[in-house]
Parts: sequence; C-alpha cells; structure tokens
Amino acid sequence: MSRQTGSASSAVPSTAFVDEARRGFTEQFGGEPAGVWTAPGRVNVIGEHTDYNDGFVLPMAIDRACHAAAAPRADRVLRVYAAQLGKTVEVSLDALTGPGSAGDTRPADSPDMSPLADPAVTGWAAYPVGVAWVLQQAGFPVGGADIYLTSTVPVGSGLSSSAALECATALALGGISGFELTTAELARHTQRAENIYAGVPCGPLDQMSSAYGEDGSVLFIDTRSGEVRPQPFDLAAEGAVLLVIDTRVSHAHGENGYADRRAACERAAAFLGVPALRDIALADLPETFAKVAVGLDETTARRVRHVVTENARVQQFVAILNHKDFSLPPLGHRMMQSHASLRDDYEVSAPELDVAVATAVAAGAHGARMTGGGFGGSAIALVDTGLLDAVQDAVRAAFAEHGYPEPQFFPAVASAGARRTA
Ligand code: GLA
Repeated sequence: MSRQTGSASSAVPSTAFVDEARRGFTEQFGGEPAGVWTAPGRVNVIGEHTDYNDGFVLPMAIDRACHAAAAPRADRVLRVYAAQLGKTVEVSLDALTGPGSAGDTRPADSPDMSPLADPAVTGWAAYPVGVAWVLQQAGFPVGGADIYLTSTVPVGSGLSSSAALECATALALGGISGFELTTAELARHTQRAENIYAGVPCGPLDQMSSAYGEDGSVLFIDTRSGEVRPQPFDLAAEGAVLLVIDTRVSHAHGENGYADRRAACERAAAFLGVPALRDIALADLPETFAKVAVGLDETTARRVRHVVTENARVQQFVAILNHKDFSLPPLGHRMMQSHASLRDDYEVSAPELDVAVATAVAAGAHGARMTGGGFGGSAIALVDTGLLDAVQDAVRAAFAEHGYPEPQFFPAVASAGARRTA
C-alpha cells in the first residue's frame, strides 16, 4: 500500500546524514564529535495562524532534519559551522551574558518576548547563538562547543528549517555540556531564541513539532495548555500520501505580513475583551464579525473569522481521524476550506500556492492547502498513491505555464522528534 511512485523521492535514510555530519565535523574542526543530535522539520496538516492565538494545531515532524555533530571545547568559545551555507560563526559565550553585553538581561521566564534592540549576532547565526544565549539565561551550564550543522530541510520552504536547527543545536549543547532538557523546555527555549534573539515573532508551532514529533503520528496540540496528543496517521494504510509541494518561492512581504497578522489578532482580542481569539466560540462568530467590522474594520473581522473557523476545522479534522473507519474525502474537504480561508480571509497565500492547490485537486487529490506561515513556501496535498505521478505532472506543467520556478515534491512521512542519533 505504501508504494511510492515517480519522482516524489523519499528522503535518503537519515543514518546517511548522521554519518555525513560526523565526517563533516572531522573535516571542519578535526577530531571526532562527541555525538550527533537530530531535529526534524515539520508540515502543519491543518491549523494555520492559530498558534499565536492560543488555538489548536495539527502538525507532524517529517523525515527532513537538521543534524548537529558536536564536541566540547576547553575554552568558552562557541563555534558553529553551517554546511549548506559554508559559513562559520564564532562567539565567546561569556560575551553573551551579563548586564548590557547582549543588550538584554531579561530572566528566562520573562513574559516579554520582544526582540533585542541590538542583537549581537545577525542573519542565520542568530539562530544557533540565540539558542546558547537563551539556555544560559535560563541557567543551564552551557559550555564551549564546536558544532557542525547539516540539514535536509529546505530553507525558506515553510517547513521549519530554523526550528530544526534550533532544536538540534539545543540538544547538542545539552549533550556535550552535561544537562538535559525536557521536551517542553526544548520547545519553549528554542521558541524564545527565535522570538527574542533572531527577532522572529513566531508562535510555538514549529519548535513544538520538532521537539514532540512521533513516528507515524500527527500531533494534536492545544497551544494554550501546552497539551500534545499524538494521533496515529497511517496514510499508507489508506493507500494515500501527504505530498509536499515546495513552490521554491518566498515573497519578500512575508516577514511584515506575519507580524501584521499577529498584531491584528492581538488588537481584535483586546477589542473583544478576551485573552486570545481562541476564546471566541464558533457559534458567536456572526455577532463577533459584525462587532469587529463596525468597531475596528472589516479586514480585521475577516482575520478573526479565519482564526475562529480554523480552530474549529482542526477539531473536526481530529474528530474524523478518531473514527475507526475514517475516509479521506472529508479530511481533504477541511484542507480545502482551510486554504480558502487563508487565501481570502487571512490573505497569507501566494499565487504559486493557489495554483499548486487548485491543480493538485483538479488532478485528483482529496484536498490540498498551503502549510506554514504562507507568502510562498510549501503546499501539501492528500493524494491516493496511484495518482501521485498525475498530480505531480499536472502541478509541474501548471507551474511551467505560469512561468513559476519548477516545484519540488516529496512525501511527508510522520517522523520522530528531536533526539540523539549517534
Ligand atoms: C510560521 C510560524 C508558526 C505559525 C505558522 C502559521 O510557521 O513560525 O509559529 O504561526 O507560521 O501557522
């Protein structure tokens, strides 16, 4: 049943990448790494832009991951090499701590998640260095380290390459410095690193997916309580595949767009007098929509409508999965509704994503939707295995017709979360 046809190439088994990480470490730094720590990317099956509204999400970790080969150093230097970029960052761990040195002395549990005014390190380097900084702030005894990072999560594809990097780095630092992080700590501190140090106002979705991932399961997460319920997701048994369509475009307005959407949700929640949009019941939506449209504006009302209906769709999707004899069309239907809502009400889709979704469904997919933050990146399509080739061919042809870059395809395989792999 799990036959995979055509060019939706499965990822090379991760043991090959673990070996590559070890070899790369030796080439780059000399000597042997003390171990390798691996953390996956994710696709979000449904529940988009709900995580910073205290809502529900349903992601799964995938078999694309970041591998961190690491060894301790005798001094207090952190040196990180990113293989895909061919770049190194080197910092003194002591320069990252103490009043003023990194421009920030907030305690680890401070509710203030605003970015540092003047981050000491910028670009890609802010991610691994931010992880070291945040762990130190939280009181973990982070020691000097050499870390070699290599990743199979495509960057800018909306598959959480940064969360994979952060989680792999955090585990590697713990592994060689002799401290252990609980899964909840791993998710929380890596999200803080991204919010505060890298200055990206993301919610908990990506880091929780990478930390909590389970083989063969999607994760039903209540982002308010932090409860994570793995839910078996055996598509092969249904003769189907969750196909990732990486559009390979990432629109420049995405960064501001994300922050704008988040701010609009917070404004609406404050206006409605609720802690978060999670607190608006589906039954109250018509009344709430009217109130926000009059009191704020219609655009904000549509943002609210997306969040409220999306939370309901996640719960419906999970309820369908919980049926012993669930079938794929109702799942596909919820995916389509989710995409339409993200496109029309939340306005975070992109022409490439809309073409991918419409074409996949026209070629026989049960449903498809954008996944992740949007403004480019990847779509996912629920496809019967026998139609995999037809769907990919159709999407490839449609992209060529529109003059878009050639998309990339691979099956999303629900995989284990962040862990030591060597
Ligand atoms: C990005 C963010 C997540 C989440 C999604 C949208 O991936 O990092 O926190 O908000 O967008 O669901």
